[in-house]
Amino acid sequence: MAPAPTVLIMGPPGAGKGTQAAHLVEAYGLRHVATGDLLREAVASETELGLLAKRYMDKGDLVPDEVTIDLLREVVSSLPDDAGLLLDGFPRTRAQAVALDEMLGRLDRDVSLVLDICVPKDVLVERLSGRWICRTCGTPYNAATRPPRVPGVCDLDGGELYQRSDDTSDAVSNRLDVYEQETAPIAGYYRDHGTLVQIDGDQPPAEVRAALDAAMQPVATG
Ligand code: AP5
Repeated sequence: MAPAPTVLIMGPPGAGKGTQAAHLVEAYGLRHVATGDLLREAVASETELGLLAKRYMDKGDLVPDEVTIDLLREVVSSLPDDAGLLLDGFPRTRAQAVALDEMLGRLDRDVSLVLDICVPKDVLVERLSGRWICRTCGTPYNAATRPPRVPGVCDLDGGELYQRSDDTSDAVSNRLDVYEQETAPIAGYYRDHGTLVQIDGDQPPAEVRAALDAAMQPVATG
């Protein structure tokens, strides 16, 4: 039997990682681990970690490596051997990429595939300014391209829709700069390892999904 895959989904803020992750999880039986979601849960619960993370997240800065690496180490170490993994939003720096290799290596696993969703900056800014998210299930909507049937209410579970505190124009602008400086270069790290596939994310969601499905075929376990 093929080993359980470890798949990374990367791309700048607003590229559609969260939108597409829901499909990948369902279609390929992967566990979705999004460091942004884990950090937002910690912020909402006002834990020590959450209070620290909020200071960085509200400005659009990265939370320090030692914090996010420890957070992820906890999740990865409790992963059953046969569980496929979809990592969303990690790694975001070279130090995180190196730490991930070390964590997976201890479990006799490695990164199987890196899905890098590429979208031009002006499109990202527009998407994030119109984004609304379900407080209950996390489904992202968009005022322009994917409006909910009833304004302010999730189509799937009736949950309240909200706008993220880091979707302000200043924070978005900083998040995009931070992505360019810190995260975009690690695509090269994965290209060197032969695991990177770049996906055109500036097309309708169904077409992005089809491109992701095609990229998944070599690692899909059924
Ligand atoms: P995180 O939660 O990971 O956010 P992000 O990377 O900024 O990405 P987003 O969630 O904003 O965008 P997305 O790509 O998921 O887009 P979505 O599908 O919603 O991180 C947040 C913060 O946490 C970071 O800034 C940092 O502070 C901290 N953090 C997290 N991980 C960290 C780490 N490892 N190290 C350090 N700090 C960390 O789509 C966006 C919008 O576009 C939606 O409205 C959607 O409906 C629409 N849309 C999606 N696809 C399409 C399409 N194809 N066509 C038209 N519209 C579309």
